[in-house]
Amino acid sequence: MTPFPIEQVRAQFPALVNPAAYLDNPAGTQVPRPVSAAVAAAMTDAASNLGGYFQASQAADAVYEQAHEAMAVMLGGASGREIVIGQSMTMLTFQMSRSLGRSWGPGDELIVTQMDHEGNVSPWLRLAEDRGMTVRWLPFNRDSWRIEPDELKPLLSDRTRLLALNYASNLTGSINPLAELTRLARRAGALVYVDAVQFVPHGKAEVAQLDCDFLACSAYKFFGPHLGVLWGRESLLAETYAYAVRCAPQAPPGRHETGTPQTELLAGLAAAAGYMAWLGDQSGATGSVADRIAGAYAAATRYEMDLAQQLIDGLLRIPGVKVQGITDARQRDRRVPTVSITHPGHRNSALARALAAQGINVWSGHNYALELARSLGLDEQEGVLRIGLAHYNTLGEVERILAALRALLRP
Ligand SMILES: Cc1ncc(COP(=O)(O)O)c(C=O)c1O
Repeated sequence: MTPFPIEQVRAQFPALVNPAAYLDNPAGTQVPRPVSAAVAAAMTDAASNLGGYFQASQAADAVYEQAHEAMAVMLGGASGREIVIGQSMTMLTFQMSRSLGRSWGPGDELIVTQMDHEGNVSPWLRLAEDRGMTVRWLPFNRDSWRIEPDELKPLLSDRTRLLALNYASNLTGSINPLAELTRLARRAGALVYVDAVQFVPHGKAEVAQLDCDFLACSAYKFFGPHLGVLWGRESLLAETYAYAVRCAPQAPPGRHETGTPQTELLAGLAAAAGYMAWLGDQSGATGSVADRIAGAYAAATRYEMDLAQQLIDGLLRIPGVKVQGITDARQRDRRVPTVSITHPGHRNSALARALAAQGINVWSGHNYALELARSLGLDEQEGVLRIGLAHYNTLGEVERILAALRALLRP
């Protein structure tokens, strides 16, 4: 096995010369040099609008095309026509909920989960309010830290129009048995809308294997610019009503991307996929771009989950700390390296502030996983202290936060 090229990786990220330890990755990752360079280059070379006859416009067309194709490869889709790019995952989900829900009404049902980030809950709750639909809540299983297929079954009916659920939690880090949950929902005739925001920084999504209908993610969580990305079945994107201007393109994805695209950020998005292919090369992967990206994920997962286990084991040795998620090393393939803790004697906001003063970046609170914080019986505002690793973190950073927490939590 090729050792993980951590030095080469860190050299790609200019922000990492900063003495801070970036352990706030579930809220947004740092950006490698090729991404910021691509954004800057597009602002010089491709700053014209799309669809013109002249060179700068054709350069913008090429950027648009490349970004969509790159995301199709990254998510395991068939072509860039299946990729809708917009401001954020939340905005795309509000938009798509409106489009899908236009033909739904009283008696129709939506299933949302107690495990999801609000970005994949509130759009559906608001839709249900607007259209008089019924909402069913899929519980979070506190023993397995995930959604259990047996708990989905009784909620499905022939009136279920859509199941909205996440791939991995941004609070507990646990991964859902998505293919099985999707199969159950689709068998009942429902659409499946997946929030993969927390999974895609750590694992290769394969939409064809998952067989879901939509899968959304956020590029700023996987080393790219601030954009949301939505993969959708091409037939659905083509048929679903689009809230767009009358003269907008009729074909997907353009019909769901109303307004002028953020070309420079699209250039950064394609570069983020390029960075992952580069990481695959550094990790010994060969073959197609998809194979190289898959190789990057495999190497990064091995590396970052080793770090995560050392973090978890160290946290468990601190008296009073409760890890709000899977801790058993034998179940490490059921989680991503997002590790949340609580301590009965300390406010998480105070701990996050004290760590920030030492140059350790973490997040505290419910992290918008509002129902999950409630179902774990946590103080809603204080939530958890969340330590989120990425593949550019080091054992030194893990030891640093463990030492800081040992001192802060000393009885
Ligand atoms: C799991 C999850 N879903 C959705 C979102 C929302 O993404 P965006 O900021 O792109 O709207 C986030 C952001 O933190 C998230 O962590």
